[in-house]
Parts: sequence; C-alpha cells; structure tokens
Amino acid sequence: SSNPHEPELLAEFSSRVYNASGPRTGSSDALQKVGASKSSAILTKSATLLPQTGNPLPRTYTSPTFSINSEGLPNKSIEYYIDGETIRESVGETGKPYFVSISGKSLEDNVEMMKLICKAPGVAGIELNLACPNVIGHPIIAYDMTQLRTVLKTVKSLKLSLPIGIKLPPYFDFIHYQQAAEIINEYNSTIDYIVTMNTVGNTLMLSPYSNEPVISPKGGYGGLSGPAVKPIALAQVRKFYSLLDSSIDIVGVGGVQSGQDVYDMVLCGAKMVQVGTCHWIEGANCFDRIVEEFEGILERKGVKDLEEIRGKLKDWS
Ligand code: DOR
Repeated sequence: SSNPHEPELLAEFSSRVYNASGPRTGSSDALQKVGASKSSAILTKSATLLPQTGNPLPRTYTSPTFSINSEGLPNKSIEYYIDGETIRESVGETGKPYFVSISGKSLEDNVEMMKLICKAPGVAGIELNLACPNVIGHPIIAYDMTQLRTVLKTVKSLKLSLPIGIKLPPYFDFIHYQQAAEIINEYNSTIDYIVTMNTVGNTLMLSPYSNEPVISPKGGYGGLSGPAVKPIALAQVRKFYSLLDSSIDIVGVGGVQSGQDVYDMVLCGAKMVQVGTCHWIEGANCFDRIVEEFEGILERKGVKDLEEIRGKLKDWS
C-alpha cells in the first residue's frame, strides 16, 4: 500500500509534526483545532467498536516534568471517527491526512474496525494500537511476541486497502527490540510504519497531600508520558531505525515539546514526529510553536532536506 508519510501526500505540510493519539483527540471539535494548526496530519483517539466512558476519575495527573494517565480508552466509537461529518469537520479545508487509531477489546474487534475504516472515504491510514497499558485485565499486546505475530499475520490476511502503522510500547532490553523487529520485518509488506512509543506502562506516583496515589484506577498505576520519557523515546526510535527494514517508516513520539526535541527524533531516524502530553497541556497552538522552532533550527544549520539529517546520529569516534 502507499506510504502515508511520503512528502507527496503531505504536500505543503512538510513540517513532519502531528498530534499523538490520546490527548485532545476524542471529538471533531478538538480534531478541528489540530487541523487548523501547523500539525501536518490529524490523528484520532484510539477507537473501540462501541463508545466507552473509560476508567473512574481522577485518571490523569500532570506535573512540569511528567504526566500519568489511566483513562481506559474513553472514546465515541469507531462509527463516530469514520463518520463523514466527523471527518469533514475535523479536516475542514485543510486537505490534511486524517488517520484513525484503533484499540479494540479483541483481535476480532480490531479486524472488524479495520474493515470498516477501509470502507470509509476520507481516511488516510490506520494506527493500530498494540500498546495500551490501561485496560484492566488486559496486558500490553506488543510485549507478548506470540500475540504480536498473530496480530500481524491476521492483518496481512485482510489485504487492507489503507496504509497501516502499529503503535508499540517502549522496550527496554535489546533482546526485546530484536524480537519485535524480527516479527515486524517478517510482515514488511503489510506494515507501513511503526509509531513508537505509547506511554511507559504501570507507573505510580503518590499525592503529597494524602496517603493515596495521584490517580484512582488500577490502584494508582498508569502510563507515564511527558518530558521525563524523552530519553526512552529516543532510544526506541534509534534502536528500531537500526533494526527495521528501510521500507518501514518510524514515527517518533514521547516527551516532544520543542523544535529541538523534533530535531533529535529525526536525527535518531524518525520520519514523522508526534506530540502528545505537550498538546494536552498547551493546546493545538503547540504545533505552531514547535514547527516554527524546528524550522528555525533547520535554517540555522542550513538543512534543506530532512533526509540530510535523518538517522545521522553520530557515534563517538
Ligand atoms: O497511555 C495511554 N492511555 N495509552 C493508551 O493507549 C490509551 C490511553 C487510555 O485511554 O488509557
């Protein structure tokens, strides 16, 4: 299938920065603000087959250095995100690529949603979330290599008409990166890109005011994001850039809040960069600021084409 991250499709949106799934992505109102900003694409909240209200409140916590969430996939259902009116309102006159994220309760649900998305006009690609840490009783899919292979085998068998990316959890041991990359490479004719990373699963922060965790679901355990995870995110992009077939694009996400963060991601090998927590805190204006900062850096360094720097992180000599 065609590559949704190629410059032709992005046309004048050469910024290579867009929103992560999750924060401010649940409604067409929110997505419209992303579209109107310098974000180069529009990506929805992860959908399930049926609408969900998510986990009990409070389920999010933010601080200047990190955030924690256990939202439990509140969303308006796949039907809403692929509805013609939702897409029209979100994209407006921008012509930007509209991506739909899905995170079904089962592989069967994901299959059903992928088929529905492919029938919906106006969708540029699918981001299959294999890394949600917050569904009670459901482990993170892409930490289970047997399950990962089964999912990719199933996706291949569907012969989908749209480009597909998979959202991965952060890995920490080199052997786990190798195992995941080997499986993904086996399906290099099916998987167009990976998105790395989802939040660092099952972290815990305590409230200084009470003897309680800062969030309520799952005994206080939630996914970690924000500036604190940037080194983890760079490691993912760098490692997968060295392990994956070059036909598989890498979309970097994690702790990006400045033009310098985008630059670092590209240096590690990212073709596109997503912004999550910063978008949550700052609103869609963050895309204008980050893109302008990034363009300033490229100009100062005399970089004309991102391919001059992509993946060019140097080793110490
Ligand atoms: O951190 C996350 N929170 N990652 C997901 O994939 C889903 C989201 C939620 O709704 O809990």
